[in-house]
Amino acid sequence: MEKFSTWRDKGTGISPFIPTEIPTFGKKNTSVQTTISIISLLPIFLIKLPFLIFFTLTYSITGLNVLLKFIIQVLFGFNFDFSVDGVKRSQVAKLESYKPKVGNLIITNYATPLDGFIFKLFSGRDIVILVPDKSGDLYKYTPCQLWNFTFDSSIKGELVTELSKYKNSIVFLLVEGTSSNNKSILPFINLNPKYELDQFNIKSLIYKVSPNYFTMPIPYISKIKYLFELITNISKKQIKLKIYNYEKLDFGKIKHSYELNSLNSVKLNIDDKEKFVDYYFNYDVK
Ligand SMILES: *[C@@H]1O[C@H](CO)[C@@H](O)[C@H](O)[C@H]1NC(C)=O
Ligand SMILES: *[C@@H]1O[C@H](CO)[C@@H](O)[C@H](O)[C@H]1NC(C)=O
Ligand SMILES: *[C@@H]1O[C@H](CO)[C@@H](O)[C@H](O)[C@H]1NC(C)=O
Repeated sequence: MEKFSTWRDKGTGISPFIPTEIPTFGKKNTSVQTTISIISLLPIFLIKLPFLIFFTLTYSITGLNVLLKFIIQVLFGFNFDFSVDGVKRSQVAKLESYKPKVGNLIITNYATPLDGFIFKLFSGRDIVILVPDKSGDLYKYTPCQLWNFTFDSSIKGELVTELSKYKNSIVFLLVEGTSSNNKSILPFINLNPKYELDQFNIKSLIYKVSPNYFTMPIPYISKIKYLFELITNISKKQIKLKIYNYEKLDFGKIKHSYELNSLNSVKLNIDDKEKFVDYYFNYDVK
């Protein structure tokens, strides 16, 4: 267990990569407990499964947000909570005006396999999702590719050569390059200077999902188990989205916007995560 402290950030004591186990399939459960849970949840699963299949299929063909909305809000049961820094909740029209728009580049944290779908639903139209690799090159993902990438980081999107072709899109930049567990913000990847970010209107998005076990810092369960928990657990689920606006790009200020929302900066980065993944799966971390 001594080695475990290696995965805590020295400054803050936070471990950004340790997953919160989902209730049904958590490692702490005995196999009898897991079987009883599955059997008791099976009726809900079997009722919802045909809807999930039907809506996923029709969504994958049409890309219509209304179908996605049904999946995320009705089948999974997520509530959305949207706010803007400096705008009161009662100023509904003003809040609405700060929602993602064409020409925005929204710098965001990255927490779950669903992030791409949630950002698309939030924007109300198609979006471009960019994730940098360690060397600072950007790759473009669709929400579905991002879902796959969260479970297997060897799946890369399409390399982006220049950003100007996305000027008429809504761009989400997952600037940490990898997901973490809603306890901190990882170091931002230094982007290749060839990407001109200042041609966009810059915002940051502080994004949180609860319960925490739906965050996926490492692929600790399969897609099927994750979906099973999503549709069978009918307790309260929430997505919080908070937007900050900037006159111009300032990574220091952006970092600070996370810290103001209890996501502290840690030093552990994407390289440390790779080592952690290796450790977690080979040494059975409890
Ligand atoms: C559903 O989620 C709640 C917390 O959000 C958890 O306490 C509970 O154990 C979960 N239920 C099942 C059946 O997994
Ligand atoms: C995601 O992964 C699944 C299973 O490996 C594959 O069938 C599917 O085509 C992938 N989707 C995308 C958009 O890459
Ligand atoms: C995110 O993490 C914080 C700190 O660990 C926790 O208090 C919170 O419940 C989590 N979820 C949300 C939605 O903030």
